[in-house]
Amino acid sequence: MFLVENVRKVYRIRERGSWFSRQWKEVEAVSGLSFAMQPGSIVGLLGVNGAGKTTTIKMCCTLLEPTSGSITVDGYDAVRCDRQVKALVNMIAGGERMLYWRLTGRENLQYFGSLYGLSGSRLAERVDTLLDLVELREAADTPVERYSKGMKQRLQIARGLINDPKYLFLDEPTLGLDAPIARQLRRQVKQLAAEQGKAILLTSHYIHEVEELCDEVYIIDKGRLVAHDTPERLTRSFCRETTLRVTIPVLPDALQRDLRQLAERHRGTWDVAETDQQAWELTLRSEADLTAPLLSLLAAHQSPVLRLVTEQPSLEDVILQMAERRSA
Ligand SMILES: Nc1ncnc2c1ncn2[C@@H]1O[C@H](COP(=O)(O)OP(=O)(O)OP(=O)(O)O)[C@@H](O)[C@H]1O
Ligand SMILES: [Mg+2]
Repeated sequence: MFLVENVRKVYRIRERGSWFSRQWKEVEAVSGLSFAMQPGSIVGLLGVNGAGKTTTIKMCCTLLEPTSGSITVDGYDAVRCDRQVKALVNMIAGGERMLYWRLTGRENLQYFGSLYGLSGSRLAERVDTLLDLVELREAADTPVERYSKGMKQRLQIARGLINDPKYLFLDEPTLGLDAPIARQLRRQVKQLAAEQGKAILLTSHYIHEVEELCDEVYIIDKGRLVAHDTPERLTRSFCRETTLRVTIPVLPDALQRDLRQLAERHRGTWDVAETDQQAWELTLRSEADLTAPLLSLLAAHQSPVLRLVTEQPSLEDVILQMAERRSA
């Protein structure tokens, strides 16, 4: 069990141009955050830029000490027993950091493995297994500077798994990856949780990725927890409206009037826009499902339907609504 309890992190930064006067400014990056992670589950940590996600991950991986509060990993305190905790955790960051470019993929993994006390045949075996897992066996002896972005990112995954961590932290793991490689990575993340029982915490600005992968989501703002639930429940509790978009070739006044009445009867809203193809796109938003009444209304007016789309609210809508409420 991974337990974060009431953790705060205050950065002290020297004010610009004040080397002699020694003025310090304090930035509270994380303010009393608590959460837990269970084996086999994938947790999302969401928040706008600067919300405190990377700071939280660094504290979880013993790279930063919390200013106050506690992080307990299988009973070990992350500050007092950092050696034990280091063996249980690891982190993978997006981008191309944390690799040695002049070394080959294999040498990189050997180096990071040796930092965890692996050596000899155990190290060689572990490196081979990971090279196979991330499909880099053929490029194993090529210097990393000649790797493509996707290959470097796969090597980062292998590096993050070198100590077979029970708790894995992924900080924007698909940043800058193209769609097929990002999809492959998401598949691997799912497998790590489902087949190897790893507890995974993930940050990402790609909300659909969080929706696809995460069993539960923590949303933080200025270092504070603002919401915690499953992606489905968060979406349902914040955005109950369903959006219907229908494209029709003509829009007589009588149909407009009936559409307005339909929306009003269901306490919804409606909107109309002319499309490029000289047709009309109607947008109806309501907490009720208006598909059936809308179709019978169009049939009554003998209006052909060129296109009909139903849009369920997504986690992205939740994040946008939360941001709107905060800035209101
Ligand atoms: N080393 C540091 N020294 C001083 N302040 C820092 C440091 N690292 C981060 N901060 C500040 O702490 C706050 C949280 O930053 P953090 O990087 O944890 O956010 P984040 O949620 O990961 O953002 P992003 O989505 O942009 O990656 C920000 O106000 C940031 O400016
Ligand atoms: Mg970050």
